[in-house]
Amino acid sequence: MKIVCIGGGPAGLYFALLMKKLGAHHDITVVERNKPYDTFGWGVVFSDQTLDNMRQWDIETANEVQQAFNHWDDIELHFKDRVIRSGGHGFVGIGRKKLLNILQARCEQLGVKLVFEQDADSDLDYPDADLVIASDGINSKVRNRTPEVFQPDIVTRPNRYIWLGTNRQYDAFTFLFEKTEHGWFQAHVYKFDNQTSTFIVECPEHVWLAHGLDKADPQQSIDFCEKLFAKNLQGEQLMTNARHLRGSAWLNFQRVKCAQWSHFNGNSHVVLMGDAVHTAHFAIGSGTKLALEDAIELVRQFKTLGDTTDRIPEVLKHYQAVREIDVIRLQNAAWNAMEWFEVCGERYCDQLEPEQFMYSMLTRSQRISHENLRLRDKAWLEGYEAWFAGRTATPGVRPPMFTPYTLRSVTLKNRVVVSPMAQYSAQDGRVGDYHLVHLGARAMGGAALVMVEMTAPSPDGRITHGCPGLWNDTQTADFKRITDWVHAQSDAKIGLQIGHAGPKGSTCRPWQGAGMDQPMAADDAEGNWPLLAASAQPYLPHGIVPKAMTREDMDRVTADFVASTRRATQAGFDWLELHCAHGYLLSSFISPLTNQRSDDYGGSLDNRLRYPLEVFAAVRAAWPAHLPMSVRISAHDWVEGGITPADAVEIARAFKAAGADMIDCSSGQVSAKQKPTYGRMYQTPFADRIRQEAGIATIAVGAISEADHVNSILAAGRADLCAVARPHLANPAWTLTEAARIGYTDLAWPRAYVSGKPQLEAGFARERALQTATKGD
Ligand SMILES: Cc1cc2nc3c(=O)[nH]c(=O)nc-3n(C[C@H](O)[C@H](O)[C@H](O)COP(=O)(O)OP(=O)(O)OC[C@H]3O[C@@H](n4cnc5c(N)ncnc54)[C@H](O)[C@@H]3O)c2cc1C
Ligand SMILES: Cc1cc2nc3c(=O)[nH]c(=O)nc-3n(C[C@H](O)[C@H](O)[C@H](O)COP(=O)(O)O)c2cc1C
Repeated sequence: MKIVCIGGGPAGLYFALLMKKLGAHHDITVVERNKPYDTFGWGVVFSDQTLDNMRQWDIETANEVQQAFNHWDDIELHFKDRVIRSGGHGFVGIGRKKLLNILQARCEQLGVKLVFEQDADSDLDYPDADLVIASDGINSKVRNRTPEVFQPDIVTRPNRYIWLGTNRQYDAFTFLFEKTEHGWFQAHVYKFDNQTSTFIVECPEHVWLAHGLDKADPQQSIDFCEKLFAKNLQGEQLMTNARHLRGSAWLNFQRVKCAQWSHFNGNSHVVLMGDAVHTAHFAIGSGTKLALEDAIELVRQFKTLGDTTDRIPEVLKHYQAVREIDVIRLQNAAWNAMEWFEVCGERYCDQLEPEQFMYSMLTRSQRISHENLRLRDKAWLEGYEAWFAGRTATPGVRPPMFTPYTLRSVTLKNRVVVSPMAQYSAQDGRVGDYHLVHLGARAMGGAALVMVEMTAPSPDGRITHGCPGLWNDTQTADFKRITDWVHAQSDAKIGLQIGHAGPKGSTCRPWQGAGMDQPMAADDAEGNWPLLAASAQPYLPHGIVPKAMTREDMDRVTADFVASTRRATQAGFDWLELHCAHGYLLSSFISPLTNQRSDDYGGSLDNRLRYPLEVFAAVRAAWPAHLPMSVRISAHDWVEGGITPADAVEIARAFKAAGADMIDCSSGQVSAKQKPTYGRMYQTPFADRIRQEAGIATIAVGAISEADHVNSILAAGRADLCAVARPHLANPAWTLTEAARIGYTDLAWPRAYVSGKPQLEAGFARERALQTATKGD
């Protein structure tokens, strides 16, 4: 086969040498526009894992890289006059020049032709080639020549960065944070040879502009950075090797991904590789890793499917199918890490103490969990757990999940909440034995707070005929029976979620055949009832059209909420949550998708919040001052034109100002057109943002299904409590089970259940031992 690689970066060179190794008869040329050894940039870093992978494909290259690289395990944070270090992270740093030299020398040794100082115009320059590898980097001319084929999706990010070097030696991957009068800067620093470290300085666009860095030439930018980081540089200078860049030399990161990776140009098959087809932000340091692994995968496919010309189409198809999955996974993690650095100045730097800031930074990509940190550096993690617990009523080393939490006069024994879950099993709005058993079992299961499902202040506020209400004395007594039982038999607290279904009322129970949110059939014996909402707009196109509330309706409903609140006090609840989420009555006022009013209760967010805040204030005044109150909101409508996470911060601020203690951060269910992005802990970023930006405690909820999730969320300060719903349907004793799973034994079980505890713990201990032994094999 005749192969031409356009671009002699890591991707092109490594592919060329591996392919030549696979078949010495292949005629392979690498065309590079620069002179040999003439490259932009300093050091690159990748993980131990990438090197292991390289070792399996060409031991000679891997050995050379191993001799030249600098290995280090630690990450060090310099923040607010503190230095915090943790170990076990395993990185390899190598000069970009050195890496290219190794690859170039190995190419020559194997017989790959290297042509320097040749700027290829396009893939059509090489009509004799069977295969053209477009390894021509982020601005790939080959990709840009036929965008309709490759369908690149390129996003330019808001932060500015400059890639510098220094002779100051660093023995850890070091992160420096400095505050100026206009905002925060950060530097990502790592050593890559015995004299030099890479020093990338980054800041938000507005901070960069405020300092006039858009007008600075490279030397002025260096002077600025040297002054800013003078304390840390200890007299060493910063250097640039990108003097060829015109203008300020500060760049914006561009995230590249392509729908199609290869095609036939009429003469040759053309395939994109490395930065030409995908980029990963330096916050996760894996662009070179991706480039090298692309090369490995393409060669693997040739090896498996055959390295003859007729196999090329099949090989290219498999190459994209396999690589795409890994690349997306890495790009997603890199995206989270990149966003963390984009918002840290506004969201974390001023809000978090250095210890928690370090934890948040280490877990920024959300790929590294609490237990993973324990594997990396047990001593550091235990130190952090002690720090976290030391800020609560029970100091000592314990996972964050099992630290107590106090709000007003209520102390929760740990951070787990049984999230409110409708059971559709009430009769005439009355809870009965079903609810006693359901809620009682969960109170015995280890969670600190058990929330009762949404309970209506009036009959027309129910979702279905099976939903509970609190509008008469009988219902009050029914609830009192349950709260008395929970208080007598467990050390859990019990809370009520009070809410009016509004436009989503009068529907079937989910098991009645029609599905969720469906109105009852016209001939249903139980019968529909008239609905209220912010506007006369049904939730589903065929749903009942609600009445847009008048001022009189508002007064009546507020009075119902207040009366229900008084009953909740008499019923002995410890906690009250006002339901302002999921498209129900109060949520229908907040979202612009459901509120079309033209009076004082519609239009701006302030206006849309007016009625929900009125209800909140009335309820808060009726609820005892010593008891806590949370508000559940939909922090994202997941529909264009709906509530966004930025709006959610404003909503949280408004409820905080009105006296709310906590925001329970759910999302969606406001519009049937929603397109949520699900995934583990998918709503936690809303809880995090609201907590930091609105300065109010939050509850995270949604796909939190392991103790490891809960610990990571709490430890990073992304929320104060974690609500867990569906896992509690499968296992009422979810908290007790998760404690045993992670080997935390220091928690009390219900006294009659105690004999089950050592057995469960021993079972999980055996499982953990087995896992460790298998890993060691
Ligand atoms: C600030 C910064 C820090 C980074 N840090 C890291 C890190 O720590 N770890 C990491 O793994 N990655 C890092 N990267 C990313 C890394 O540099 C790239 O992802 C990696 O080099 C991609 O390899 P490549 O071979 O695809 O492209 P490149 O390395 O960009 O190589 C492309 C080559 O093609 C040549 N070329 C382009 N057009 C033509 C043409 N028309 N004709 C001939 N030749 C051409 C170029 O001169 C270049 O040599 C960083 C990037 C930046 C910007
Ligand atoms: C059966 C069921 C009923 C629910 N009922 C309510 C409810 O009454 N009030 C509420 O705010 N959320 C309700 N939810 C949403 C949950 O409280 C929770 O936010 C959601 O299920 C995501 O958490 P999970 O991934 O742990 O299940 C319900 C969820 C389920 C599964």
